[in-house]
Amino acid sequence: FHVFGFAQDLLAWYDSQKRDLPWRINKDPYRIWVSEIMLQQTRVETVKPYYANFMEKFPTVSELAKAPEEDVLKAWEGLGYYSRARNLQAAAREVTVRYGGVVPDTPEEIATLKGVGPYTAGAILSIAYEKAEPAVDGNVMRVFSRLLYLTDDIAKPATRIKIEHLVRQVIPEGRAGDFNQALMELGAMVCVPRTPQCLTCPVFDYCMARQEGVAEELPVKGKA
Ligand code: ADE
Repeated sequence: FHVFGFAQDLLAWYDSQKRDLPWRINKDPYRIWVSEIMLQQTRVETVKPYYANFMEKFPTVSELAKAPEEDVLKAWEGLGYYSRARNLQAAAREVTVRYGGVVPDTPEEIATLKGVGPYTAGAILSIAYEKAEPAVDGNVMRVFSRLLYLTDDIAKPATRIKIEHLVRQVIPEGRAGDFNQALMELGAMVCVPRTPQCLTCPVFDYCMARQEGVAEELPVKGKA
């Protein structure tokens, strides 16, 4: 597996093919944070209008921190999983009092925020702060399972940890955020769940599952 060529080819594809998404217009950590919380359980197309409205109503950490909770829940109405909104506001208040309104940029500090698990922490640290941290969600687990022909059950916590270690070794110098987003983009657009589009895949040559003809059968999920 040629790590350097893989990262280069994936990034070249991302640079030319990435979608224009509203949370990609700048690297404001707060904007990235809100987007990742919304995207956790909700599809990109559904998130877009909610994200625009939320950013207009609560443009900064401090605006979100001082808003009445019912206004925040109102802006979340229809997105579901309302604990995401409550945790986000609680964490914004924490960032305001503890970090002067600046989203922390270390794994240790960011992990203390409500609603920020390993995936969200890695996404914010890499996309907003260019830290070489993995951001492994379901998309990335599927991509890596196929790429390296891993048959570990992705429902097991140990599998995510294993894949985090692998991703960490592949993140290219200086482009952590784009690399993580390129993996997500590949999982969303090409390396999709039941019908992977291997013929249009920018990293076809590196994919062990494709070489063995088993891309459709991976990842392994929740079988005993
Ligand atoms: N899903 C989760 N995070 C995402 C991002 N930053 N861009 C596109 N889809 C995503």
